[in-house]
Amino acid sequence: MPTVVLTHALPGPADARLRDAGFDVVTLDADGPPTREAVLDAVAGATGLVTLLSDRVDAALLDAAGPSLRVVANYAVGLDNVDLDACRARGVAVAHTPDVLSDATADMAWALLLAVARRVVEGDALVRSGRWGGWAPDQLLGTSLSGRRFGVVGFGRIGQAAARRATGFGMEVAYAARTPKPEAEAALGAQHLPLETLLRTADVVSLHTPGTPETHHLIDAAALDAMKPTALLINTARGTVIDEAALVAALRSGAIAGAGLDVFEREPALAAGLAEQPNVVLAPHLGSATTDTRAEMAGMVADAVIAVAAGGTVPHLAVAPTP
Ligand code: NAP
Ligand code: GLV
Ligand code: GLV
Repeated sequence: MPTVVLTHALPGPADARLRDAGFDVVTLDADGPPTREAVLDAVAGATGLVTLLSDRVDAALLDAAGPSLRVVANYAVGLDNVDLDACRARGVAVAHTPDVLSDATADMAWALLLAVARRVVEGDALVRSGRWGGWAPDQLLGTSLSGRRFGVVGFGRIGQAAARRATGFGMEVAYAARTPKPEAEAALGAQHLPLETLLRTADVVSLHTPGTPETHHLIDAAALDAMKPTALLINTARGTVIDEAALVAALRSGAIAGAGLDVFEREPALAAGLAEQPNVVLAPHLGSATTDTRAEMAGMVADAVIAVAAGGTVPHLAVAPTP
């Protein structure tokens, strides 16, 4: 019986689907998150490996699995935790979970944006405190969004989904991207701008790039300085895209008005001072965290393992199997 190792139990149909397909399913987190050593031990001889974005898939892990390994299925769309070249070099296919989480993640960007713009978290705390004295003209005034510019950095699947929502809120859409996207641009009435212009003119900057060496600290002190002092920064991409220490300084000095963050540079740790800032809303990496989306993602990783192990393929492969 071929073995598939799941570093963590997944909600949804993955376990049942893999067992029905004849796999021996080994799940490693029965007693809490497995250590790196436990993962390296458990993968020896596995055909498939299902990983989380917090697992490092590198040459050492692939070598520990050995030549039986056919496929790594990452339970995420982002692949910054996976050494794709090392997989390719060993003929190991890599699957991920694009598309099914785009709407959920774009919703999360908007949940954070509305929470920051309208001070929902501060308001919730005030009501719960018992110190709220009733409606007042100048209480917790926030930022209007309609008529303002929504700036997307990384105009891919999720960036476009976030932009679609912006049009519903009456915002004008602009985007910065390596590759122009004329079709999406036309569909959303979006304007393609150089990053510097977008940072200088957007009222909201929403990040949707992958985490790569190229996007590392794309939003640094200079970028934050270029933004409007009234602007809001939203990050549901990867924490590494923002220099988090520089962001704390910008939130403190008023270089920007606020931020909504779902991802952090050194998850789950936060930069010093971030949690003390009132003008930032923090979420624990919840972009794809809806019951429906997580079940779809689980089905996709299972389908990828089953297909590749049988010599077939699925559309959601980042590295194709070698014949
Ligand atoms: P995608 O469709 O591949 O879109 C990413 C876009 O970023 C592409 O259009 C790409 O442009 C662009 N890009 C790459 N490098 C860039 C750069 N240096 N400057 C400007 N644009 C750049 O991916 P997706 O499905 O939208 O996912 C995007 C990312 O969101 C994932 O990689 C993941 O890290 C993150 N994510 C987070 C959560 C969460 O829970 N918070 C959930 C899902 C995804 P090109 O067309 O030129 O390649
Ligand atoms: C989540 O962050 C993902 O990349 O799917
Ligand atoms: C506020 O509640 C209003 O009626 O304007």
